[in-house]
Amino acid sequence: MKIISIISQKGGSGKTTLAANLAVYASMQKLKILLIDTDPQKSLSYWWEQREEKTPALADVSIKDLEKTIKNLKKDLFDLVIVDTPPHTNETIKSVINISDLILIPVKPSPNDLRAIGNTMSLIKNQNKKFIFVINQANKQANITLSTATELSKYGEVCSSIIANRIDYVTSMISGKTVTEGSKGKSLIEIKDIFNYVKKYLCK
Ligand SMILES: Nc1ncnc2c1ncn2[C@@H]1O[C@H](COP(=O)(O)OP(=O)(O)OP(=O)(O)O)[C@@H](O)[C@H]1O
Ligand SMILES: [Mg+2]
Repeated sequence: MKIISIISQKGGSGKTTLAANLAVYASMQKLKILLIDTDPQKSLSYWWEQREEKTPALADVSIKDLEKTIKNLKKDLFDLVIVDTPPHTNETIKSVINISDLILIPVKPSPNDLRAIGNTMSLIKNQNKKFIFVINQANKQANITLSTATELSKYGEVCSSIIANRIDYVTSMISGKTVTEGSKGKSLIEIKDIFNYVKKYLCK
């Protein structure tokens, strides 16, 4: 069982959207997936309650109880656990980082999001964990997207697949779905590419 946590100090960077889309796509690949919602806002749980499909599973767990919950999970019950986290966390997020095999950090290509990166990095540094930036809600042709990728690469690895600003990321979630369900479009390819990109780190 591997654990991916999705972390960003910046609110609205796409943590919940990335968690739901990756989890559903991974379930479609026949992996046994558990989503954990540690955010008191409960956006992921509200989305999940709208779902008709039984997978992925979801558990609502506070950050305080996360370590114990993971410890008590039977290791062969799930292939992958994906943890969605709240924004504006501080020291408490370190316990999430501690139990993770891989951290994904969604970042929007905007000056405000880039300025907030230092806060996220200060929580991750010294923890010796693999982390990958995922650029989200981007205009792929815009200069700001390229400069964001360049700026982020000074801190660490940037996923080569970028998530564009697309309305289906928003509308699919209204009914408890994701872009990977019933879609053959560009957004499905983006999620598939990100999944394949991160998968190689989980196999190590
Ligand atoms: N690629 C995208 N294209 C268009 N809209 C997006 C995209 N990704 C996320 N959004 C929208 O942006 C908003 C914020 O996304 P999301 O809730 O995933 O961020 P978050 O980091 O989980 O926020 P919070 O910090 O409040 O938990 C939502 O309305 C979501 O539908
Ligand atoms: Mg969220």
